[in-house]
Amino acid sequence: MANLPQSLSINAPFAAAGSSAQNAAAASQANKDHKMASVEHLILQLSNPDLRENALLELSKKRELFQDLAVAPLLWNSFGTIAALLQCVASHPDTKMLFLNAHIPLYLYPFLNTTSKSRPFEYLRLTSLGVIGALVKQVDDTEVISFLLSTEIIPLCLRTMEMGSELSKTVATFIVQKILSDDVGLDYICTAAERFFAVGRVLANMVASLAEQPSSRLLKHIICCYLRLSDNPRACAALRNCLPDMLRDATFSSCLREDPTTRRLLQQLLHNVEVNRMPPL
Ligand code: TRP
Repeated sequence: MANLPQSLSINAPFAAAGSSAQNAAAASQANKDHKMASVEHLILQLSNPDLRENALLELSKKRELFQDLAVAPLLWNSFGTIAALLQCVASHPDTKMLFLNAHIPLYLYPFLNTTSKSRPFEYLRLTSLGVIGALVKQVDDTEVISFLLSTEIIPLCLRTMEMGSELSKTVATFIVQKILSDDVGLDYICTAAERFFAVGRVLANMVASLAEQPSSRLLKHIICCYLRLSDNPRACAALRNCLPDMLRDATFSSCLREDPTTRRLLQQLLHNVEVNRMPPL
């Protein structure tokens, strides 16, 4: 009796007094319901960054107690929990490298490789990209960039940029932008013509689809990618031919009027490409 959880030993005398197995079962069920409610409460707290740490601690303390409960399915099926945990450790400077060295991002790649356009798959890709996005969010992280390049994240991002929803396109383009912003990433893309043209083609296709469905956020990331590519002399020369005309004409003028930062970035891009038009002296 001493080893039983407190709530159960409190209920036990009543069950004994009623001398009914039914009462004992009801008490045990009530106790289970109570524990379940507290687990659910803690799991909800996991998606709140302020409460997450304490909720994690409480959940881990109660792990033994919860063996008879279906906690794992709750963690798995509750909204945002798994993503919150992954994104949380992927973005924290103290855990980022541990997360990377354990190769956990690799578990997400098969999700990025899916092609179904149904909502569950779209969410799966978006959530997975969110974790990769959290990894690259801080600037100047060559180690993270090198890991992602060596595991071939670029073709996976390009695929989402081609067929994803606006939101996942935006996250995938953000990741490519972050990779390009690193010298290792820029070199990786620009030293092989096929890589450069694969990226250029996908960016141009996104520009074309933006003309029908504008998104200033996505446009900004696309322009940032082009602008960074123009820092590489060979890529800059190639952009002369493959930069979409829509970026030079008035297609996005209304979008850009409300976004002076992006407008300036585009001017800089056009300037870079123009300057490179000059024949060498
Ligand atoms: N192994 C391929 C490569 O290194 C990966 C790849 C496919 C790729 N498509 C790409 C890399 C586009 C960069 C850009 O070329």
